[in-house]
Amino acid sequence: MGRPVAVVVGVGAELGLGAALCRRFALEGHHVLVAGRTADKISQVVRTIEKDGGTAQAVVTDTTRESDVVRLFDQAMSPGAGLDPADLIAYNAGNNRKFDFRELSAEMFEDFWRIGCFGGFLVGREAARRLVPLGRGTILFTGASGSMRGKPGFAHFAAAKSRGRNEASHGRRWDCNWSSNQSTSLAC
Ligand SMILES: NC(=O)c1ccc[n+]([C@@H]2O[C@H](COP(=O)([O-])OP(=O)(O)OC[C@H]3O[C@@H](n4cnc5c(N)ncnc54)[C@H](OP(=O)(O)O)[C@@H]3O)[C@@H](O)[C@H]2O)c1
Repeated sequence: MGRPVAVVVGVGAELGLGAALCRRFALEGHHVLVAGRTADKISQVVRTIEKDGGTAQAVVTDTTRESDVVRLFDQAMSPGAGLDPADLIAYNAGNNRKFDFRELSAEMFEDFWRIGCFGGFLVGREAARRLVPLGRGTILFTGASGSMRGKPGFAHFAAAKSRGRNEASHGRRWDCNWSSNQSTSLAC
């Protein structure tokens, strides 16, 4: 058995939630695939993990592009010598911005939806495709109470629950939880 591997999608600033998840998983012994859309930012997160004695690699990924997500998971499931296929996946992509709702254009709404919801669907589906044959794994979706009100967070929850039901019908037990800090998790 090799070392466990985790994937965090939607990593940017060192002070962001995505970077914090990467550091935490590395601290717990995971090799971490640090996936985000800005190469400089994710490379900095990798350097910090390595400085603290962990291992990680940066994978430039636009989570709204299906081909990027599939490529990320191809890499995550064959991560190299001494490493197990990834079985811990976190989806954190978001675009936290405050502005007047009346100023929200249709283009901006669609952009938010692409990142918050469509990207979550691509990652969740790809994770389920890869983890179900393994028979184990955890998928986490971060979110805030605002995302629950704004529906993309709820859409993740509903999609995760439906995936859970679907996988259960394939003879695997998946637990789906909406936790007190409004993250959604699915584990089997
Ligand atoms: N921070 C908190 O305390 C907290 C608490 C509860 C819930 N949350 C929720 O957790 C989520 C993330 O929060 P955060 O604080 O880490 O803020 P954030 O700055 O929104 O971090 C999300 C990251 O997603 C990346 N991203 C955006 N579009 C992407 C795409 N198409 N492909 C790949 N990556 C993409 C951004 O990368 P770039 O930087 O390169 O643009 C950004 O670094 C949000 O939904 C937020 O509501 C945060």
